[in-house]
Amino acid sequence: MNVSSLLCLSPKFILPEDERPQLSAVTSLDSIPIIDLSGRTCNDGNPSSSLLIQKISNACEEYGFFQIVNHGVPEQVCNKMVTAITDLFNLPPEQRKHLYTADHTKKTTLYNYYLHVEGGEKVKMWSECFGHSWYPSEDIISFLPQEIGTQYCEAFSEYAREIGSLVRRVLGLISVGLGLKEDCMVKILGDEPRLRAQANFYPPCPDPELTLGLPVHTDFNALTVVLQSQVSGLQVIKDGKWIAVPAVPNAFVINLGDQIQVLSNGRFKSVHHRAVTNKFGPRVSMAMFYSPNLDTIIGPIEELVDEEHPPRYRRYHFSEFLQEFYNQEGSRRMVKEVFELPN
Ligand code: OGA
Ligand code: NI
Repeated sequence: MNVSSLLCLSPKFILPEDERPQLSAVTSLDSIPIIDLSGRTCNDGNPSSSLLIQKISNACEEYGFFQIVNHGVPEQVCNKMVTAITDLFNLPPEQRKHLYTADHTKKTTLYNYYLHVEGGEKVKMWSECFGHSWYPSEDIISFLPQEIGTQYCEAFSEYAREIGSLVRRVLGLISVGLGLKEDCMVKILGDEPRLRAQANFYPPCPDPELTLGLPVHTDFNALTVVLQSQVSGLQVIKDGKWIAVPAVPNAFVINLGDQIQVLSNGRFKSVHHRAVTNKFGPRVSMAMFYSPNLDTIIGPIEELVDEEHPPRYRRYHFSEFLQEFYNQEGSRRMVKEVFELPN
C-alpha cells in the first residue's frame, strides 16, 4: 500500500479558515504567459528575438512567472524524472519514514512543510519533498534504498545537465530584457552557484479546500525551473487574486526568485505562489533552484540605479538573506522586505 492511501485528513493538516485556499475564488480568466523559445537566441539582431525578449520582460514585470515551450529539453528526459520521483514516493512508508528530518542543514533529505498558525501550532502541508543538490550522486545513492537511488540518480543527472544550460539561457534573456549584457546575471550569480533541487509529491487529498500542498511563499533564490506532471496545482498571485498555472504539455514554469527582484531593483518581481491539492490523483513536480553562493554580494545592479530609480534594497551577502529566511521559518515570510531601503 502506498502512503497516499494511508493519509487521511487528520486535524494536523487542517488550516484555520483564513489560511484555506478558497478554491472557488481562483480565477481562470487569466494565466501566466506561455513563451515559445524555439530556435531563437537573444542579441542576434533578429526581430523575432527582440519580440521574445519583450515578452519575457513583460512577463517578469507583470507576473514574475511564465511558462516556456520548445525549450529544447527532450521530453523523455522529463518523463524519466517524473517517473523516478513517483517511484520514490511510492516506496512503502517503512522504507522511507526514517529518512524524514526537519534539519535544513542536511544536504540530502526528505521533509514536510508546515505553517505556524495562531496559537503557535504547526499545520502540516499535504505534500512530501525530497531536497538535494544538483551534483549529489553519491549522497543520493547512500541515502535512498539502493534500487530507487540508482534509478533516481540516473534520471536526475541527465535532467540536471539539461536544466543547467536552460537556466543560463533564460538568465541571458532576462539580462537582455533589463537592458544588460547577456552574461550579466550569470556573472553576478557567480561561478559557483548554489544549486538545489526539490522533488515534490502531492498525494490525492480527500478535501482540497481544507489544506495546502505548499504554503504561500516566494522563492528565496534567483531563478526556479519547475516541471509539473500533467496535473495542475501551482497557483500564483496577480493583482491580489489567485490564478492557476495550467499543466501545459512539455512546458517548464519559470519563476523569478527574490534575488532577481533585488538585482533588478524591483523592476522584475518575485511573486507569491502556493501549491493546492486535488482529490483525483497524485501530482509530482520538480523545482530546480539556482542561487548565488553564500559569499556573493547581492544588491540592485548599478546600471539599473539612477536618480529616477534610487536603490530600493541595501547590499548584503546572500548568507545574510538565507539566515533571515530561516529565522522566519513557518510563517508567511517577508524576507526581502528586511533588506529594503526607506524611500
Ligand atoms: C517550490 C514550488 C511548485 C509546485 O517548490 O518552491 O513552488 O508546483 N513548487 O510544486
Ligand atoms: Ni516556490
